[in-house]
Amino acid sequence: MIIVLIGYMASGKSSIGKILAKKLSCEFVDLDDFIENEEKASVTDIFKSKGEIYFRKQETRYLKQLLQAESNIILSVGGGTPCFGENMKLILENENVKSIYLKASIPKLVKRLFDKKSKRPLISHIETKEALTEFVGKHLFERVYFYNQSEIQIITDKKSKNKIAKEIISILF
Ligand code: S3P
Repeated sequence: MIIVLIGYMASGKSSIGKILAKKLSCEFVDLDDFIENEEKASVTDIFKSKGEIYFRKQETRYLKQLLQAESNIILSVGGGTPCFGENMKLILENENVKSIYLKASIPKLVKRLFDKKSKRPLISHIETKEALTEFVGKHLFERVYFYNQSEIQIITDKKSKNKIAKEIISILF
């Protein structure tokens, strides 16, 4: 089985994915890290030197590659991954995949993102929390259409990462 974790930037996909992988004794793969390794450049540098369109093409290419995995993996995708090209369709059509949307509120996302925005090219230019709140609100509104297609949806606010991982396991097994 491939468990694909979906959600906005800073929704906890990677940290919850790591906990899940430990609990289920399987491999954890973060799509952004995978892209960075393969491309030998950080996501920020790829956006800067080659542009977002190039990044999105590579994202789809590596997503396809990872979705062919025959072993059990937990795959955390980027916040934009389900929203470009046929990526969500690829995730949903794959019989081995369980897609899980980690749903976090806008204030939670903004709180977590504000200090870590420099690593995220789409928001690194935003200077105030108010402006970030406005951006995330609009951006999430466009993206939930894709996120909501996930087979399983988990509300994450007010829950520890460990509790969320346990909740996912109890739904899946
Ligand atoms: C992006 C999210 C990032 C990364 C890139 C673009 C997005 O991943 O793929 O900066 O479009 O939301 P995280 O969701 O892991 O931050």
